[in-house]
Parts: sequence; C-alpha cells; structure tokens
Amino acid sequence: MISQSILVAIILLLATEIKSAMLPEADCPTMCGNLTIPFPFGTTSDCYLDDSFLITCNHSYNPPMPFLNMGKSQVLEISLDGVMKVASSVASDCYDDSGAQINGTISELVSYKFPISSTRNKFTVVGCDTFAFYKTSNEQRQRMTGCVTSCDSIDYVINGTCTGIGCCQTYIPKGVKDFFVNIGSYRNHTRVNNFNSCGYAFVVEAEAFEFSTSDIKDLRNIKRVPVVLDWSVGDVTCKEARENLSSYACRAIHSECSDSRNELGHRCNCLTGFQGNPYLVDGCQDINECTALKPCEGECKNLPGNYSCSCPKGFEGDGMKNGTGCYSTGHLFNAPKNNASTGLFYVAAGVLLPGVFTSWVFWRRKQKKVTRLRQNFFNRNGGILLQNMLSSRKALTIFTAEDLKRATNNYDESKILRMEQHFGNTYYMGILPDHGENQEVLVIKYWDAPDESCVEPFIILE
Ligand SMILES: *[C@@H]1O[C@H](CO)[C@@H](O)[C@H](O)[C@H]1NC(C)=O
Ligand SMILES: *[C@@H]1O[C@H](CO)[C@@H](O)[C@H](O)[C@H]1NC(C)=O
Ligand SMILES: *[C@@H]1O[C@H](CO)[C@@H](O)[C@H](O)[C@H]1NC(C)=O
Ligand SMILES: *[C@@H]1O[C@H](CO)[C@@H](O)[C@H](O)[C@H]1NC(C)=O
Ligand SMILES: *[C@@H]1O[C@H](CO)[C@@H](O)[C@H](O)[C@H]1NC(C)=O
Ligand SMILES: *[C@@H]1O[C@H](CO)[C@@H](O)[C@H](O)[C@H]1NC(C)=O
Ligand SMILES: *[C@@H]1O[C@H](CO)[C@@H](O)[C@H](O)[C@H]1NC(C)=O
Ligand SMILES: *[C@@H]1O[C@H](CO)[C@@H](O)[C@H](O)[C@H]1NC(C)=O
Repeated sequence: MISQSILVAIILLLATEIKSAMLPEADCPTMCGNLTIPFPFGTTSDCYLDDSFLITCNHSYNPPMPFLNMGKSQVLEISLDGVMKVASSVASDCYDDSGAQINGTISELVSYKFPISSTRNKFTVVGCDTFAFYKTSNEQRQRMTGCVTSCDSIDYVINGTCTGIGCCQTYIPKGVKDFFVNIGSYRNHTRVNNFNSCGYAFVVEAEAFEFSTSDIKDLRNIKRVPVVLDWSVGDVTCKEARENLSSYACRAIHSECSDSRNELGHRCNCLTGFQGNPYLVDGCQDINECTALKPCEGECKNLPGNYSCSCPKGFEGDGMKNGTGCYSTGHLFNAPKNNASTGLFYVAAGVLLPGVFTSWVFWRRKQKKVTRLRQNFFNRNGGILLQNMLSSRKALTIFTAEDLKRATNNYDESKILRMEQHFGNTYYMGILPDHGENQEVLVIKYWDAPDESCVEPFIILE
C-alpha cells in the first residue's frame, strides 16, 4: 500500500549495511600525482570499495604515479561514468637497410578486473610491410584478432584511413581483460626502407589516435597510448544487487543504477538534475539550474533535481525562455498559436462564461502540477528504489509523514541519540517507540526540500 505522494521512506537495513554505506574514511587521499581518485577507487583498504578498486600510488616517481591494482598499468584518468584510461605500450619492429632486425618493443596490458572496452578502443597496426596479432591469455578462451598493412609508396597512404594501406584497424573482442601483441614483417621492410623502416602495433582509445601519413615515419616517438577500460562494481546486475543491499553500490539517495557495459556488474549515476559521486551517501547534490542554465524569462525557483519558472503578477505563461515566456494578461489572445489547448480555449471561451472556464483551467493545471511535483519528489527521494526493494523484501515498510511525526514525537530532540551532518543533510539516530522493541532508526532530513510541505525525513531502520 504505497501512495505516490508519500515522501517518507523507511528502509530496514542491517547494521553492517549502514556501516559500509559510510565508507570511505574522511581522510582518504583523493589524488596521486595529478590523477583524481574518486570512491569506489582508493589507495588503501579503508578507502576503496573492494580490492578491484585499488590504485597503487608509487611515490618513488616525481610526481607520484598511479597504477591499477599492483600492476604495471599506469592510470591516466578515472571518470565516474564507468570509464577509466590506462597507459599501454606500443609494440615496434624495426630493421636496418640490409633487412636485419635492430630493436623492437612489445605491447601488453593486464587489467585484473575491468574489461578492455571493445567499442572505444581499436587494435591499430601502422607500417608498410607489417602484420600483427592481438592475443588474450589462456584463461579467457584464447581470443585472437589480426591486421596486415602494406604499401609500395608513401603516395598511396591516405590521412585518416586505416584500411590496410599504411594503417590497419580493427575492433577488439568483447569482455577481454588482457592482451599481448605480436608483430612481424614479411620482407623485413627491405623494399620500403627508404620511407618506412619500422612497423607498429597497439591498442588505443579510438578517439585518441588519428592516423596521418607522417606516422609512417614518426611513430617511434610515441611510447605510450591511452586504452579505455569499462569499470563497474561487483559481479551482479542492478536487479540482483537490489535484493542484497550490501552488494548494491549506488549509495547516494538521488542516484540510479545501470548494468555494466560488459558482462557482469553494475554502475551508478546521479539522477538528472543532480551531480556528484553516486557511490557516496551524500554524493549526488542538486544542480542549481537557475544559475547554471538561466532557463526562465520570469522568476526562477530551484527545486531538487529541477527548477520551476513563474511569471510576475499580472502576467501569464510558463515563464520559460524557450517556452511561452511571460505575457501580459491583457494580451491573452496573443499567446502562441501553435498550442492546441489555446485553440480549444478560443472555441470554448465563446461558448462558456470566460471567468468560470478560466478558473477551471487554472485549477486543473495547478492540480496536475502538484501531482507531478509530488511524483518527482517521490522519485528523487528514492521512492523507485524503495518500491523495487519492497517487492523483494518483506521486512520493508514505508511510513507516511504523519506516522513518523507521531512516532518520533514531532522529531523530539530527546529521541535523538546521535546527530551528524554531511553536506547539509542531517542524520538523526533515534528510536521509533511503537515499532517493535525499541527499534533504532536513522532519520535523514534533507536540506534541499523545496518548501514546508516537502520537508519530509527519510528513515532507515536499523
Ligand atoms: C597529468 O600529468 C601528465 C604528465 O605528468 C600529463 O601528461 C597529463 O596530461 C596530466 N593529466 C591531467 C589530467 O592534467
Ligand atoms: C615504484 O616504482 C619503482 C620504480 O619502477 C619500483 O622499483 C618499485 O617497486 C615501485 N614501488 C611499488 C610499491 O610498486
Ligand atoms: C628478416 O629478419 C630476420 C631477423 O633479423 C631474419 O632471420 C630473416 O632472415 C630476415 N628475412 C629477410 C627476408 O631478410
Ligand atoms: C632502436 O634503438 C636505437 C638505438 O638504440 C634508438 O635510437 C631507437 O629509438 C630504437 N627504436 C625503437 C623503435 O625503439
Ligand atoms: C596528412 O597529415 C599530415 C600531418 O597531419 C600533413 O602534414 C599532410 O599534409 C597531410 N596530407 C594530406 C594529403 O592531407
Ligand atoms: C549479500 O552480499 C554479500 C556480499 O556480496 C554476501 O556476502 C552475502 O552472502 C549476500 N547475501 C545474500 C543473502 O545473498
Ligand atoms: C522538470 O520540470 C519540468 C516543468 O515542470 C518538467 O516538464 C520536467 O519533466 C521536470 N524534469 C524532471 C527531470 O523531473
Ligand atoms: C528548454 O530549455 C531547457 C534548458 O535550457 C532544455 O533542457 C529543454 O530541452 C528546452 N526545451 C525545448 C523544448 O527546447
């Protein structure tokens, strides 16, 4: 029996779940060199969500260098949309004029947990007498892909074109977590040595490499290229994780879950209108659209996850810059003509008493708006998540605002055991008397409630 207008929610949680929700420790390092390390990533066990999110910061470099896990892959970038970039080496194979091999380098990458993005990277081979193979380790059903490139003259090579003349590109298999690149030459570059003495092969972020004819000569200067990994949490989907809160990573109230791009795991996002880190309890903060977008012609009011525009007294319209804006009541019939309901209004106005009809229209609009607003707040306060959990957990109860007010004696201070503040949200630890044997509750009071009727706490029972 859940009413859409209920803005109060109570989630039964195990104590451990609340504790783990409080991760990470406040003093966790968030930088290594110039890399920003957001939770769930971290440099120590107090700071990361689980071992797969370990970033090793090696201070013997200046500036310090971040590596994935205990591995050799330098981390270049971590973004909260489930993408991370690591540096990978370039395999090269060079020959002198006589066709003798001079020196070569290899390319390999080992990501312990996160798959190498099959859509955002490309296996790339550059050279005029070159072939290369991409192999994955034995554990992963040994997968292989290859590319051959040749050219008799640099004149045949075209900028931006990787179809086998000077450059060859192909996608990599889905779901692989490592690779090893083998490179070779058919004629040791003997026929092309005057303009191309080396072949190169590497996996690279597709957007980061644009082939040009000069790469046939100059690519030896590039030692490392970025590779995109898809990261996600755990090995269960959103649906499975919601059934077991301790494996559900989307801690922020205003967050939502999405399944990972590759095989297992799930990812989190802040809801539209919110920004920040969805993996932290207070991570998703409201965006003030009024200052960020300046969407209103009339007065702008910031709401949690949204905004509303209104017109000053004596004006009508939706108040939006890209809507009808605000227009004077006296010129109602100059309102935009592309609006179907306005057309209806013209007809109706001739038939009905205009005064009665107008008030009915405004009353209807207001009712609709209130319903929409309530639906919005219900969603933003985690209502959907709760409904999902309700279907799988019998112990969950949702209380109305009235119930709670009564149960907590109008948020009586003497009922409060502990109080903490994070980012303006207030957490009260209290006792709900007429619910079982003095069950402890965690009450969260939001700072971003739009007005008095929406100041509703979010309660988590322990
Ligand atoms: C971090 O530093 C490296 C060199 O030390 C530089 O190449 C890279 O662009 C920097 N990254 C950012 C995000 O500033
Ligand atoms: C840091 O890098 C140095 C130089 O590559 C290496 O010898 C050392 O083992 C690394 N330290 C750690 C903790 O990985
Ligand atoms: C190419 O180089 C390899 C290694 O240096 C050598 O064994 C082979 O004989 C060479 N082949 C030709 C066609 O020159
Ligand atoms: C091969 O070795 C020479 C001399 O040691 C060096 O100048 C050159 O950069 C190397 N080439 C590659 C591709 O590593
Ligand atoms: C290809 O790109 C290189 C470097 O970006 C440039 O120097 C060259 O003129 C370009 N060639 C053509 C045919 O556009
Ligand atoms: C919930 O997840 C945790 C950690 O992933 C696991 O240890 C526990 O067994 C799971 N519980 C259930 C009921 O699946
Ligand atoms: C924000 O408010 C506008 C106007 O009230 C509404 O059309 C829109 O759906 C809302 N957006 C969200 C994300 O709730
Ligand atoms: C109106 O403007 C807002 C904010 O700039 C934008 O999100 C929305 O898509 C626009 N709507 C239309 C119909 O152009």
